[in-house]
Amino acid sequence: MKKIPIIIDTDPGIDDFFCLALGLSYEDVFDLKAVTTMGGNNYTEVTTANAIDIVHLFKKEVPVAMGAESYLKEVFEEPVWQHHGHNGLADAQIPHCAGTPDPLRAWDKIAQVAEECAGELVLVTVAPLTNIALALQKYPQLPSQIRKIVMMGGSTEAGNITPYAEANIGHDAWAADIVFRSGIPVDMVGLNVTLKCPLPREIFDPISIKLDPVIRGTMQTMIDFRKGEPMHDAVAIASLIDEKILEFLPADVTVETENEERRGQTVVKENSGVNTRVAVKADLPRYYDVIAGMCH
Ligand code: RIB
Ligand code: CA
Repeated sequence: MKKIPIIIDTDPGIDDFFCLALGLSYEDVFDLKAVTTMGGNNYTEVTTANAIDIVHLFKKEVPVAMGAESYLKEVFEEPVWQHHGHNGLADAQIPHCAGTPDPLRAWDKIAQVAEECAGELVLVTVAPLTNIALALQKYPQLPSQIRKIVMMGGSTEAGNITPYAEANIGHDAWAADIVFRSGIPVDMVGLNVTLKCPLPREIFDPISIKLDPVIRGTMQTMIDFRKGEPMHDAVAIASLIDEKILEFLPADVTVETENEERRGQTVVKENSGVNTRVAVKADLPRYYDVIAGMCH
Protein backbone atom coordinates (compact mmCIF):
# COMPACT_ATOMS: atom_id res chain seq x y z
CA MET A 1 0.00 0.00 0.00
CA LYS A 2 1.33 3.46 -0.91
CA LYS A 3 2.52 5.39 2.14
CA ILE A 4 0.67 8.55 3.14
CA PRO A 5 2.98 11.60 3.18
CA ILE A 6 2.19 13.51 6.37
CA ILE A 7 3.33 16.41 8.52
CA ILE A 8 2.30 16.33 12.19
CA ASP A 9 1.71 19.82 13.63
CA THR A 10 1.89 19.37 17.38
CA ASP A 11 2.37 20.88 20.85
CA PRO A 12 3.88 17.95 22.82
CA GLY A 13 2.13 17.46 25.17
CA ILE A 14 1.19 14.11 26.62
CA ASP A 15 -1.39 13.04 24.05
CA ASP A 16 0.77 14.54 21.33
CA PHE A 17 3.47 12.07 22.46
CA PHE A 18 1.09 9.19 21.67
CA CYS A 19 0.19 10.77 18.32
CA LEU A 20 3.88 11.14 17.41
CA ALA A 21 4.53 7.58 18.60
CA LEU A 22 1.96 6.28 16.09
CA GLY A 23 3.26 8.54 13.33
CA LEU A 24 6.84 7.42 13.95
CA SER A 25 6.05 3.72 14.46
CA TYR A 26 3.70 3.00 11.56
CA GLU A 27 6.42 3.32 8.92
CA ASP A 28 4.44 1.07 6.56
CA VAL A 29 1.54 3.55 6.62
CA PHE A 30 3.21 6.96 6.91
CA ASP A 31 5.98 8.81 5.16
CA LEU A 32 6.47 11.28 8.00
CA LYS A 33 8.03 14.22 6.16
CA ALA A 34 8.33 16.59 9.11
CA VAL A 35 7.09 17.51 12.54
CA THR A 36 6.11 21.15 13.03
CA THR A 37 5.68 22.54 16.51
CA MET A 38 3.38 25.05 18.16
CA GLY A 39 2.74 26.43 21.59
CA GLY A 40 -0.33 25.44 23.56
CA ASN A 41 0.40 22.69 26.06
CA ASN A 42 3.67 24.48 26.72
CA TYR A 43 5.73 27.28 25.21
CA THR A 44 6.85 26.68 21.63
CA GLU A 45 10.51 26.52 22.66
CA VAL A 46 9.63 23.66 25.06
CA THR A 47 7.33 21.79 22.66
CA THR A 48 10.04 22.02 20.00
CA ALA A 49 12.69 20.54 22.29
CA ASN A 50 10.19 17.85 23.30
CA ALA A 51 9.46 16.99 19.67
CA ILE A 52 13.19 16.66 18.89
CA ASP A 53 13.64 14.40 21.94
CA ILE A 54 10.62 12.26 20.99
CA VAL A 55 11.84 11.72 17.40
CA HIS A 56 15.25 10.76 18.84
CA LEU A 57 13.65 8.42 21.40
CA PHE A 58 12.02 6.51 18.52
CA LYS A 59 15.39 6.43 16.72
CA LYS A 60 14.07 8.20 13.63
CA GLU A 61 15.44 10.97 11.41
CA VAL A 62 12.57 13.43 10.92
CA PRO A 63 13.06 17.19 10.66
CA VAL A 64 11.39 19.26 13.39
CA ALA A 65 10.50 22.80 12.31
CA MET A 66 9.70 25.32 15.03
CA GLY A 67 6.41 27.14 14.77
CA ALA A 68 4.89 30.37 16.00
CA GLU A 69 5.57 31.60 19.53
CA SER A 70 2.29 33.49 19.75
CA TYR A 71 -1.22 33.15 18.40
CA LEU A 72 -2.57 35.32 15.56
CA LYS A 73 -4.44 37.59 17.96
CA GLU A 74 -5.08 35.84 21.29
CA VAL A 75 -2.59 36.39 24.09
CA PHE A 76 -0.48 33.29 24.83
CA GLU A 77 -1.28 32.54 28.47
CA GLU A 78 0.83 30.47 30.84
CA PRO A 79 0.24 26.77 30.11
CA VAL A 80 -2.04 24.87 32.48
CA TRP A 81 0.75 22.88 34.13
CA GLN A 82 -1.51 20.29 35.72
CA HIS A 83 -2.64 19.02 32.31
CA HIS A 84 0.77 18.12 30.87
CA GLY A 85 3.29 18.78 33.67
CA HIS A 86 5.91 21.51 33.73
CA ASN A 87 8.01 19.92 30.98
CA GLY A 88 4.95 19.17 28.85
CA LEU A 89 5.51 15.41 29.13
CA ALA A 90 4.02 14.59 32.54
CA ASP A 91 7.41 15.59 33.97
CA ALA A 92 8.73 12.27 32.65
CA GLN A 93 12.45 12.51 31.89
CA ILE A 94 13.19 11.19 28.39
CA PRO A 95 16.76 11.16 27.06
CA HIS A 96 17.68 14.67 25.91
CA CYS A 97 18.89 14.96 22.33
CA ALA A 98 21.27 17.72 21.27
CA GLY A 99 19.39 18.02 17.97
CA THR A 100 18.36 21.41 16.64
CA PRO A 101 15.24 22.53 14.77
CA ASP A 102 15.12 22.59 10.98
CA PRO A 103 16.47 25.79 9.37
CA LEU A 104 12.95 26.46 8.05
CA ARG A 105 10.17 27.68 10.36
CA ALA A 106 6.99 25.59 10.46
CA TRP A 107 4.94 27.56 7.92
CA ASP A 108 7.79 27.54 5.37
CA LYS A 109 8.41 23.81 5.97
CA ILE A 110 4.75 23.04 5.37
CA ALA A 111 4.88 24.96 2.07
CA GLN A 112 8.15 23.31 0.99
CA VAL A 113 6.88 19.77 1.68
CA ALA A 114 3.47 20.51 0.13
CA GLU A 115 5.23 21.60 -3.07
CA GLU A 116 7.34 18.40 -3.08
CA CYS A 117 4.33 16.12 -2.46
CA ALA A 118 2.35 17.64 -5.36
CA GLY A 119 -1.11 17.47 -3.80
CA GLU A 120 -0.65 14.26 -1.78
CA LEU A 121 0.36 15.79 1.57
CA VAL A 122 -1.93 15.18 4.56
CA LEU A 123 -1.57 17.54 7.53
CA VAL A 124 -2.22 15.93 10.91
CA THR A 125 -2.92 18.88 13.20
CA VAL A 126 -3.08 18.26 16.92
CA ALA A 127 -2.28 21.76 18.21
CA PRO A 128 -3.65 25.29 17.84
CA LEU A 129 -3.79 26.05 14.11
CA THR A 130 -1.57 29.12 14.04
CA ASN A 131 1.16 27.55 11.85
CA ILE A 132 -1.36 26.35 9.29
CA ALA A 133 -3.02 29.77 9.14
CA LEU A 134 0.36 31.49 8.74
CA ALA A 135 1.26 29.09 5.91
CA LEU A 136 -2.09 29.77 4.19
CA GLN A 137 -1.58 33.56 4.50
CA LYS A 138 1.97 33.41 3.09
CA TYR A 139 1.36 30.78 0.38
CA PRO A 140 -2.03 31.35 -1.32
CA GLN A 141 -1.48 28.28 -3.54
CA LEU A 142 -1.34 25.97 -0.52
CA PRO A 143 -5.00 24.79 -0.55
CA SER A 144 -4.45 23.20 -3.97
CA GLN A 145 -1.39 21.32 -2.65
CA ILE A 146 -2.83 19.79 0.53
CA ARG A 147 -4.88 16.60 0.11
CA LYS A 148 -6.61 17.00 3.47
CA ILE A 149 -6.23 17.98 7.12
CA VAL A 150 -6.90 15.41 9.84
CA MET A 151 -7.49 17.60 12.86
CA MET A 152 -7.85 16.87 16.53
CA GLY A 153 -9.96 19.87 17.38
CA GLY A 154 -13.39 21.27 18.07
CA SER A 155 -16.46 19.45 19.23
CA THR A 156 -20.06 18.90 18.20
CA GLU A 157 -20.84 19.22 21.91
CA ALA A 158 -19.09 21.13 24.72
CA GLY A 159 -15.58 22.53 24.81
CA ASN A 160 -12.82 21.96 27.37
CA ILE A 161 -11.06 25.29 27.85
CA THR A 162 -14.45 27.05 27.98
CA PRO A 163 -17.96 25.54 27.88
CA TYR A 164 -17.86 26.23 24.12
CA ALA A 165 -14.23 26.00 22.93
CA GLU A 166 -11.95 23.01 22.61
CA ALA A 167 -8.26 23.93 23.21
CA ASN A 168 -6.83 23.56 19.71
CA ILE A 169 -9.58 25.76 18.29
CA GLY A 170 -10.12 28.06 21.24
CA HIS A 171 -6.49 29.07 21.80
CA ASP A 172 -6.40 30.58 18.30
CA ALA A 173 -9.95 30.86 16.97
CA TRP A 174 -8.91 33.23 14.18
CA ALA A 175 -6.38 30.72 12.90
CA ALA A 176 -8.98 27.96 13.01
CA ASP A 177 -11.43 30.19 11.12
CA ILE A 178 -8.83 30.70 8.36
CA VAL A 179 -8.21 26.94 8.13
CA PHE A 180 -11.89 25.94 7.95
CA ARG A 181 -12.52 28.64 5.31
CA SER A 182 -9.46 27.62 3.23
CA GLY A 183 -11.26 25.01 1.15
CA ILE A 184 -8.85 22.26 2.23
CA PRO A 185 -10.91 19.15 3.12
CA VAL A 186 -10.92 18.68 6.89
CA ASP A 187 -11.58 15.53 8.93
CA MET A 188 -12.51 17.09 12.27
CA VAL A 189 -11.90 14.71 15.17
CA GLY A 190 -13.45 16.51 18.11
CA LEU A 191 -13.96 15.99 21.82
CA ASN A 192 -17.36 14.47 21.10
CA VAL A 193 -15.54 11.29 20.01
CA THR A 194 -12.10 11.55 21.62
CA LEU A 195 -13.59 11.81 25.12
CA LYS A 196 -15.07 8.36 24.51
CA CYS A 197 -11.61 6.84 23.84
CA PRO A 198 -9.87 6.45 27.22
CA LEU A 199 -6.51 4.70 27.40
CA PRO A 200 -6.18 3.16 30.87
CA ARG A 201 -3.22 1.11 32.08
CA GLU A 202 -5.32 -2.08 32.15
CA ILE A 203 -5.69 -1.76 28.39
CA PHE A 204 -2.23 -0.39 27.60
CA ASP A 205 -0.04 -2.65 29.75
CA PRO A 206 -0.91 -6.05 28.21
CA ILE A 207 -0.65 -4.78 24.61
CA SER A 208 2.65 -2.93 25.07
CA ILE A 209 4.84 -5.67 26.54
CA LYS A 210 7.13 -5.80 23.48
CA LEU A 211 7.62 -2.02 23.38
CA ASP A 212 11.05 -0.52 24.07
CA PRO A 213 11.20 -0.37 27.89
CA VAL A 214 12.07 3.36 28.03
CA ILE A 215 9.20 4.23 25.66
CA ARG A 216 6.79 1.93 27.47
CA GLY A 217 7.75 3.33 30.86
CA THR A 218 7.36 6.90 29.61
CA MET A 219 3.92 6.11 28.22
CA GLN A 220 2.87 4.44 31.49
CA THR A 221 3.99 7.53 33.40
CA MET A 222 1.93 9.71 31.08
CA ILE A 223 -1.13 7.47 31.33
CA ASP A 224 -0.86 7.58 35.12
CA PHE A 225 -0.45 11.37 35.02
CA ARG A 226 -3.66 11.64 33.01
CA LYS A 227 -5.40 8.90 35.05
CA GLY A 228 -6.27 6.90 31.94
CA GLU A 229 -8.01 9.85 30.29
CA PRO A 230 -8.16 9.91 26.47
CA MET A 231 -5.07 10.60 24.41
CA HIS A 232 -7.07 12.89 22.11
CA ASP A 233 -4.37 13.38 19.48
CA ALA A 234 -3.72 9.65 19.08
CA VAL A 235 -7.38 9.08 18.11
CA ALA A 236 -7.04 11.56 15.24
CA ILE A 237 -3.94 9.98 13.66
CA ALA A 238 -5.27 6.46 14.34
CA SER A 239 -8.12 7.23 11.93
CA LEU A 240 -5.50 7.38 9.15
CA ILE A 241 -4.08 3.98 10.14
CA ASP A 242 -7.48 2.26 10.28
CA GLU A 243 -10.19 4.26 8.55
CA LYS A 244 -12.88 2.15 10.24
CA ILE A 245 -12.04 3.51 13.69
CA LEU A 246 -14.12 6.65 13.20
CA GLU A 247 -17.46 7.22 11.54
CA PHE A 248 -17.68 10.62 9.86
CA LEU A 249 -20.60 12.75 8.66
CA PRO A 250 -20.35 15.53 6.08
CA ALA A 251 -20.85 18.89 7.79
CA ASP A 252 -20.50 22.60 7.41
CA VAL A 253 -18.25 23.83 10.24
CA THR A 254 -17.72 27.46 11.13
CA VAL A 255 -15.67 28.86 14.00
CA GLU A 256 -17.11 31.52 16.28
CA THR A 257 -14.69 34.45 16.57
CA GLU A 258 -16.77 37.58 17.26
CA ASN A 259 -18.87 36.53 20.27
CA GLU A 260 -16.34 36.64 23.14
CA GLU A 261 -18.19 34.14 25.35
CA ARG A 262 -18.49 31.56 22.55
CA ARG A 263 -15.19 32.34 20.82
CA GLY A 264 -13.59 29.11 19.55
CA GLN A 265 -16.86 27.20 19.32
CA THR A 266 -17.10 24.94 16.27
CA VAL A 267 -20.61 25.47 14.92
CA VAL A 268 -21.47 22.25 13.11
CA LYS A 269 -24.33 21.87 10.62
CA GLU A 270 -24.30 18.14 9.91
CA ASN A 271 -25.21 16.69 6.49
CA SER A 272 -24.62 20.04 4.84
CA GLY A 273 -20.90 19.98 4.21
CA VAL A 274 -18.60 20.41 1.27
CA ASN A 275 -15.11 20.36 2.76
CA THR A 276 -15.54 19.06 6.28
CA ARG A 277 -16.25 15.64 7.70
CA VAL A 278 -16.97 15.49 11.41
CA ALA A 279 -16.25 12.35 13.43
CA VAL A 280 -19.39 11.24 15.22
CA LYS A 281 -18.58 7.74 16.48
CA ALA A 282 -15.49 5.73 17.49
CA ASP A 283 -14.84 1.97 17.41
CA LEU A 284 -12.85 1.54 20.62
CA PRO A 285 -11.59 -2.05 20.05
CA ARG A 286 -10.21 -1.05 16.64
CA TYR A 287 -8.53 1.98 18.23
CA TYR A 288 -6.89 -0.23 20.84
CA ASP A 289 -5.75 -2.59 18.06
CA VAL A 290 -3.93 0.35 16.45
CA ILE A 291 -2.22 1.16 19.75
CA ALA A 292 -1.29 -2.53 20.05
CA GLY A 293 0.06 -2.52 16.51
CA MET A 294 2.55 0.17 17.43
CA CYS A 295 3.96 -2.10 20.11
CA HIS A 296 5.13 -4.97 17.91
O1 RIB B 1 -8.33 19.54 23.56
C1 RIB B 1 -7.31 18.57 23.43
C2 RIB B 1 -6.16 19.11 22.64
O2 RIB B 1 -5.57 20.21 23.33
C3 RIB B 1 -5.03 18.08 22.47
O3 RIB B 1 -4.37 18.32 21.25
C4 RIB B 1 -4.13 18.39 23.63
O4 RIB B 1 -2.78 18.02 23.35
C5 RIB B 1 -4.24 19.87 23.72
O5 RIB B 1 -3.33 20.43 22.81
CA1 CA C 1 -1.96 18.60 21.22
